[in-house]
Amino acid sequence: MYELCPETEADTAEVEALLDLCFAPGRTALSSYRLRDGVPPVPGLCLTLRGGDGGLVAAIRYWPVRVASLPVLLLGPVAVHPTAQGEGLGGYLMRESLGRAGRTGWARVMLVGDAPYYGRFGFRRLEGVVMPPPTNPDRVLGLELTPGAWVDLRGPVEREAAPSVHAALAEMAEAPGTMPPCREVDPTEPAARPPPPRI
Ligand SMILES: CC(C)(COP(=O)(O)OP(=O)(O)OC[C@H]1O[C@@H](n2cnc3c(N)ncnc32)[C@H](O)[C@@H]1OP(=O)(O)O)[C@@H](O)C(=O)NCCC(=O)NCCS
Repeated sequence: MYELCPETEADTAEVEALLDLCFAPGRTALSSYRLRDGVPPVPGLCLTLRGGDGGLVAAIRYWPVRVASLPVLLLGPVAVHPTAQGEGLGGYLMRESLGRAGRTGWARVMLVGDAPYYGRFGFRRLEGVVMPPPTNPDRVLGLELTPGAWVDLRGPVEREAAPSVHAALAEMAEAPGTMPPCREVDPTEPAARPPPPRI
């Protein structure tokens, strides 16, 4: 069994260590990190999975960004400890967090990643949505949580700059009781996997 929890400040150092382990050195130089600089992540969608011994085995994070002034969720990074990859944990975190995103009113999600992996969750190449360079346009992928949410939406991906949004996200992260509770899950059991997000 694993414990699924919303990420809190207490997890930050461990999540960063996991990301360092799973990604090539220099990951924070990627253009997607410039969109996250100085912006709080989205509380309640950033999730951790811990094994029976309490060790962190997987994590997923989300940040708010804008395209054509509309709010978009930027998914990532998502990482699974090398010793636990291929057991369904990454897919579980993807489906669970996307389901939560849909239920909390987000209309559209994007990420920069491998289409062969993210296609299984419904992500498709986004035409005309431009990440800060250097980004391979074939890796810019999107998913609609509300039908039509990406239709005719084009333009540069921009950092969420509104101080009111930053303040609201920070307040949510600190307000006791607003985060969903931790729960025990077994992502390796197909029957326990959450359904794909509503599209
Ligand atoms: C990518 C990652 C999050 C997937 O999590 P996971 O728990 O290992 O994946 P799951 O067990 O849910 O799914 C495994 C399936 O995904 C496939 N897969 C994993 N990474 C893939 C990739 N980069 N491209 C295509 N398929 C991939 C596996 O081949 C396997 O396919 P199968 O179901 O047909 O056998 C994890 O492997 C990881 O942390 N990798 C290093 C960091 C990383 O690359 N993060 C993603 C950034 S784009």
